[in-house]
Amino acid sequence: MKQKNNYTIFSFIKRDSKKMMLAIILSLFSVVSGIIPYFVVAKILTLTILKKGTIVDIFYLSIIGTCAFCFKIIFFNLSTTISHKLAYKTINFIRYAIVDKLAFISMGEFQKKKIGEYKQLIMDDMDKLEYPLAHAIPEITSNLLGFIAIMIYLFIVDWRLALAGLVPIIISFIIYGIMMKGGAMEIFKEFNEGTALLNSTTVEYINGMEVVKAFNQTVSSIEKFSNAVIHFRDVMTKWFSHCWPYLSAYNVIMPASIAFVLPIGGILLKNNIIDLSIFIMGMILSLGIAPPVMKLIEFTDNIPTIMFTEAKLKEILSINELEQRLKKICLKDDSVEFNHVSFGYEENNILHDISFKIKPKTMTAFVGTSGAGKSTVAKLIARFWDVKEGEILVGGENIKNIPLTQLMDEISFVSQDNFLFDMTIRENIKIGNKFATDDEIEAVCKKTGCLDFILKLPQGFDTAVGNTGELLSGGERQRIAIARAMIKNASIIILDEATAFTDPENEEIIQKSISNLTKDKTVIIIAHRLSTIVNADKIILFNKGRIVNEGTHNELLENSHIYKDMWQAHIGSKSWGVKEKVQCLEY
Ligand SMILES: Nc1ncnc2c1ncn2[C@@H]1O[C@H](COP(=O)(O)OP(=O)(O)OP(=O)(O)O)[C@@H](O)[C@H]1O
Ligand SMILES: [Mg+2]
Repeated sequence: MKQKNNYTIFSFIKRDSKKMMLAIILSLFSVVSGIIPYFVVAKILTLTILKKGTIVDIFYLSIIGTCAFCFKIIFFNLSTTISHKLAYKTINFIRYAIVDKLAFISMGEFQKKKIGEYKQLIMDDMDKLEYPLAHAIPEITSNLLGFIAIMIYLFIVDWRLALAGLVPIIISFIIYGIMMKGGAMEIFKEFNEGTALLNSTTVEYINGMEVVKAFNQTVSSIEKFSNAVIHFRDVMTKWFSHCWPYLSAYNVIMPASIAFVLPIGGILLKNNIIDLSIFIMGMILSLGIAPPVMKLIEFTDNIPTIMFTEAKLKEILSINELEQRLKKICLKDDSVEFNHVSFGYEENNILHDISFKIKPKTMTAFVGTSGAGKSTVAKLIARFWDVKEGEILVGGENIKNIPLTQLMDEISFVSQDNFLFDMTIRENIKIGNKFATDDEIEAVCKKTGCLDFILKLPQGFDTAVGNTGELLSGGERQRIAIARAMIKNASIIILDEATAFTDPENEEIIQKSISNLTKDKTVIIIAHRLSTIVNADKIILFNKGRIVNEGTHNELLENSHIYKDMWQAHIGSKSWGVKEKVQCLEY
């Protein structure tokens, strides 16, 4: 079983801990180099005002200051280059981990979240991690150490000036704390949920664009979408109106160390408690206190983002994967068997006590009314879900004992939706078999009736099919999906309404090629057009989640009223279709 326990973002970064250390050290060098110019300026000012230094002293000090400043930039660039590479690598790791996880969980678990939510986590939330990952770890460490170094030195110079320099920092922290305690986290959570809702509703809205157009719906009339937009605006406004007053005060007070150090230093100098060199050093160093602290606080803004992303990540990565064995097992043959299987997507069962046996290398058809459970049975064979009761055997083995990857290799599944990826036709077909040569792809396309239309496309096999294959007709998509399934060369082939959108001429071609290509295979066909399955070795008739009869076409015509009625209706619709055509021609 493939279950991991450590799902923190840090656990992914740790995989490259040496590089992260290097980025931190380089960043630390950058901060130290950045502090040196403060000392240099203070020294030059003291030497100049006290008229103690020569031109050469000031020249050397200037060189040191300039070099230190250059080193600050060089070290910073090196550090961020490493940390950015590391950040993108980590984000990649996490994206792979999520996608990998989704492949091994049941469809039931998968469907608990909306597509938009997955999109947000895999794309948007991961993109948002770039800033904290690439900058936060090296820069937090180095800025924290930089701040500590300045403060220690300032305390050594004069403890009163150091304390005065700390006052605005402490006040700013209190303001920040009040902002966070006053409900900022809750509002941020709402803001995050609002973003997720807007994301998923937008994806749903865009996917349903055809319906929107067909039914003349405008944006405002799609209530769900407009509500999500309004809700997002409201939480965003709430977030800003809550935080802005605090952030304004914080931004004014935090960098104002000198406003506190200057009067205290003036009093101390006037009373001869400190001398001019200490006064100048205190002034200049106080200018260096706020920048590292402000950088640190800047990163704390990212903490809620990291926390929410991490919570979502944990939620997905800790979903239990389908239990499976990892070791390949030897299957007896290509048979499929259901033993008293009951199943429901939710609490109520949709399939009730289903039992049947499909012999190897035979063709079996599932027929029945819409919603009878045919596709559900097919999906259970491919283990998209686990059964609630009973068992499913493939090759004599319970599918729970067959590694998922082995089961997927055994089965080729053309689903009702025949989903195509937004890639070229060639790439879509190659999903079935990544080693297939161009000649093999062409041959299988010829047999499944898609070669003609593919060659007519401007870029042939290299034509991109668009989002979910929308640039092709329903029938064309189906034929490509069949070609993809056929090139996989699996021993069990499941075709769920695979030719439903195909015109009669092409359907005949495909039917012929299906019978040729599946000669030595176990084939399960789900079809509403009964004429396509009359020659099946066995037809299983489903009704309301139960098997009501099984046998050959002729046996069912004799024994089953339901099947007979379905057949009559089918024959009727076919002849009606012909009559309609004739009438149309007469006009
Ligand atoms: N993912 C799902 N989540 C919840 N219920 C589902 C899901 N898929 C199907 N169902 C329900 O299960 C029942 C059986 O659906 P199924 O798709 O297996 O029927 P079917 O016989 O293939 O119908 P059709 O001939 O229309 O394709 C239906 O009532 C359907 O609403
Ligand atoms: Mg179906």
